[in-house]
Amino acid sequence: MSVISARYLRKPGVARARLPQGVRADCGTLRRVTEAVLLVGGQGTRLRPLTINTPKPMLPVAGVPFTVHQITRARDAGVTRIVLATSYKAEVFRAFIDDSDLGIEVVIATEDEPLGTGGAIRHALPFLESGPDEPVLIFNGDVLSGVDIDGLVQHHQATGSDVTLYLTPVDDPRAYGLVPTDQDGRVTAFLEKPKAAEEIVTNNINAGCYVFKRSVIDRIPAGRPVSVERETFPGLLTDGALVTGVVDSGYWLDLGTPLAFVQGSCDLVLGAAPSPAVPSVGDFLALPGAQIADDAQVHGGTVVGRGSVIAPGAVVTGAVVFDGAEIGEGAHVSHSIVGVGAVVGAGTVLRGAVIGDGAVIGRGNELLDGVRVWPSAQIADGTVRFSSDS
Ligand code: GTP
Repeated sequence: MSVISARYLRKPGVARARLPQGVRADCGTLRRVTEAVLLVGGQGTRLRPLTINTPKPMLPVAGVPFTVHQITRARDAGVTRIVLATSYKAEVFRAFIDDSDLGIEVVIATEDEPLGTGGAIRHALPFLESGPDEPVLIFNGDVLSGVDIDGLVQHHQATGSDVTLYLTPVDDPRAYGLVPTDQDGRVTAFLEKPKAAEEIVTNNINAGCYVFKRSVIDRIPAGRPVSVERETFPGLLTDGALVTGVVDSGYWLDLGTPLAFVQGSCDLVLGAAPSPAVPSVGDFLALPGAQIADDAQVHGGTVVGRGSVIAPGAVVTGAVVFDGAEIGEGAHVSHSIVGVGAVVGAGTVLRGAVIGDGAVIGRGNELLDGVRVWPSAQIADGTVRFSSDS
């Protein structure tokens, strides 16, 4: 199976943003960012069926909803107030936030209809308290990164930028929005998903985290869908606004696909990805009430959810087993996600599979390479094979 490439932090949280020539950061006079908007309203279609019941940012990653990793990183960078821009399954966020204390004020803004990334930022405006010239941190709800938030904000302030983007270099940028910059870090264009080789003018992509001068948010049209990537950013360039980019080559991973989701979870457990919300790192993480048989093998950053059972002889590596699931005797599960309360029969092999909540996979099956089983589905014993019998 193919492996998602994530880059690893050289040292958590210390990659400093480089300021353009002639600009010096004066931390004594520059304000830290105190407000943020976290975009969590997407439908997470690439992660179905896991996102049928749970919005992507609320899926558990290394023991807590993914959004907790992001909120606590923002908190540790000095953010004291965060607006969760919700749309799809907003009630799931509300129930969680009402019950949690993350050491930061969390406000929930819910769109009646999804407004897209830019529309969601504009919809959050009445919930913000920052002044017009103050910096507001905006970030996508599905990116796991070690970006130096403080460095990004310092750069934004020192350059007087209208918007500052976090950029990250990738080996193959064809699936992303490219963001070329000039020698001073000024963004020169926004190029969506280039196809021809000559269109690939940079490897730096929009990494899904920005600092906006608050007054720039005021200028986004209200009450209609807007794409920040396709409409707001190119419009700012046309209007002559100062849009700068900060390239940070530390850990970055978009958790949008099942394979990336598993990798992000494993990287957090193994300590390769940074998060204040992971209590301790190790070869695997067993949540309270998990039962792992003595002769089962669990490793590679696997999470075993609350009340889940790993039976004798099972091998579970680089996987995410949600709460209340069962992995049968001698089953082999790798690079896969097993949904809440799902059952994997004895001797079954899962490799690169997603098993929906409550699904029952009988004994002796073989599910490989991106197969996705819908919630509550039942697969009888010995009915699915990928390999030959020879
Ligand atoms: P896919 O459907 O699998 O592409 O995932 P997604 O729905 O998360 O879409 P995408 O990755 O393009 O979204 C980027 C970020 O913006 C994610 O954090 C989404 O939650 C968020 N987002 C996308 N559309 C909306 C929207 O209409 N409203 C809000 N509030 N957030 C959105």
